[in-house]
Amino acid sequence: MNYKITLLPGDGIGPEVTDAAVKVLKYAAERYGISLDLNEQLMGGCSYEEHGLPITDETIEICKQSNAVFLGAVGGPKWENLAHHLKPEAALLKLRKSLGLYTNIRPAKVYSAFLDASSLKNNVVAGTDFVVLRELTGGIYFGEPRGMDEEKGWNTMVYTRPEIERIAHQAFEIAQNREKRVTSVDKANVLEVSQYWRNVVHEVAKEYPDVTLHDMYVDNAAMQIVRNPKQFDVILTGNLFGDIISDIAGMITGSLGMLPSASVGTEHALYEPVHGSAPDIAGQNKANPIAAIASVAMMFKYTFNMHHVAKIIETSIEKTLQDGYRTVDIATEGGNLVSTDKITEQILKNCEVMFSKEADVQVG
Ligand code: IPM
Ligand code: MN
Repeated sequence: MNYKITLLPGDGIGPEVTDAAVKVLKYAAERYGISLDLNEQLMGGCSYEEHGLPITDETIEICKQSNAVFLGAVGGPKWENLAHHLKPEAALLKLRKSLGLYTNIRPAKVYSAFLDASSLKNNVVAGTDFVVLRELTGGIYFGEPRGMDEEKGWNTMVYTRPEIERIAHQAFEIAQNREKRVTSVDKANVLEVSQYWRNVVHEVAKEYPDVTLHDMYVDNAAMQIVRNPKQFDVILTGNLFGDIISDIAGMITGSLGMLPSASVGTEHALYEPVHGSAPDIAGQNKANPIAAIASVAMMFKYTFNMHHVAKIIETSIEKTLQDGYRTVDIATEGGNLVSTDKITEQILKNCEVMFSKEADVQVG
């Protein structure tokens, strides 16, 4: 199978972590007979410098012709004061919308080597492993009418049946590969849009009798995530609630800088680390490539549909951390402080060991 992948390394540490991710991507793809057609394009501040726009229509067109897009990180102080439509954030929203990436998937998984880095007590956070599915191309982010004049500002939160159905199906399908529990998060006690969301999710749920569905109000969900995060498996929610909930979920793991994300639609997908472009350490071979590499693992899951390869990459990351390898952002006493290249090399070594074992099992 041949896959077209567009790389958008972006700004700051984006190019370095993208390089690291591509090493793992190429290596694992070759091992498993996936042929890749990689091409690199500009997005973010670097695109603005070259073309006066954070992303060009040509780049969007190239992304549309790809099976998947990998994004490093965009933005930096140099571009913070640009007009709204010229900021890197605007490019991101445009890309999501143009590619129809209606589901944002962010895992909230605690690396056992990082329990102490969580803002929550060890016993509360240990064993936490859930995913947040956030609707990404609808809701109040895109609803019309919207605007602002001298007297007021306004936005519209609206969800149509197809918009809710497609992400609900995805949530139940993902739950079937996990612990088979979906929590749908809304504000149905106040908002009609949420009551409608709830009704449609319950209709879709009938097609998945093996999955349990719970509803939870968003304010309570925010509270429950910090009270007892282990209770969740798959959280399904709208765009704005999901924006907030996924930040809380990421933070409690203590490894926000190491979390990957995927944004998927019917025909396309975009993979990106959750962290930003960290311009202060850019170009110094110091950046932590783990979130980027974990995003490659997500590509194996959701684009290549090879969950076992994803698992091997994730386990290699965990093993590397357990062996004490640390980049500067996660430096610990007694840890082995290494460069971006070195930690990547170590992750690749661990992948190699596990890939070989798997090959032995298949032969034997
Ligand atoms: C995110 C970000 C974006 C969002 C911003 C940068 C537009 O916060 O990816 O969560 O709100 O979706
Ligand atoms: Mn956000």
